[in-house]
Amino acid sequence: MALLGSQDEIITPRLRLRRARSEDLPAIHAILSDPVAMRFWSSLPHADIEQSRKWLAAMIEASADESDDYVVERAGAVIGKAGCWRIPEIGYILAPDHWGKGLAREALGALIPHIFARHPIAAITADVDPRNAASLKLLARLGFTETGRAARTCQVGDEWQDSVYLALERPAPALI
Ligand SMILES: CC(C)(COP(=O)(O)OP(=O)(O)OC[C@H]1O[C@@H](n2cnc3c(N)ncnc32)[C@H](O)[C@@H]1OP(=O)(O)O)[C@@H](O)C(=O)NCCC(=O)NCCS
Repeated sequence: MALLGSQDEIITPRLRLRRARSEDLPAIHAILSDPVAMRFWSSLPHADIEQSRKWLAAMIEASADESDDYVVERAGAVIGKAGCWRIPEIGYILAPDHWGKGLAREALGALIPHIFARHPIAAITADVDPRNAASLKLLARLGFTETGRAARTCQVGDEWQDSVYLALERPAPALI
């Protein structure tokens, strides 16, 4: 169960999702420069902290109409990000030390109702490399279903990535 601390904070049993701040740069750069974490991301691992500084600044400055994105904190340390950089597409990344503990499921399980509550969208979407088994399993667990596939949608370095497109429709309102 998640508590909405404020419009800009989501609290779960183990995590706090909050808006990004410029002081998050070292932790965010550690993740975005990690080749393991970035294997199926839409860009190469950041080679330079300036790339991460720009990435973080864009996240901080993004308009609330088109973006609803959070850093993920565990025990006071930033371990990732989760949210919609561009509504309605969801994106997330955690530092590999924190994988396999149900944390992404916990974060997204709280985030998704929050996104539906705040934005008048019919569905949340995702675009995943078909080789990204962890991401596909996570989304399936959360109720996302495949809506399509396309080849060579994104060139990352020398490599072309394919896409599996998925969507989670807005739940029907409960009948009382
Ligand atoms: C995708 C990612 C966020 C998953 O984080 P996580 O905290 O390890 O995921 P969870 O522990 O919550 O697991 C969610 C489900 O996925 C499954 N899963 C996790 N890692 C898996 C793997 N490598 N292969 C297959 N299934 C996996 C879990 O078993 C769980 O399913 P279950 O509930 O049936 O047991 C993490 O791997 C990550 O940050 N990857 C790099 C960034 C990335 O690829 N982001 C997505 C871009 S589309």
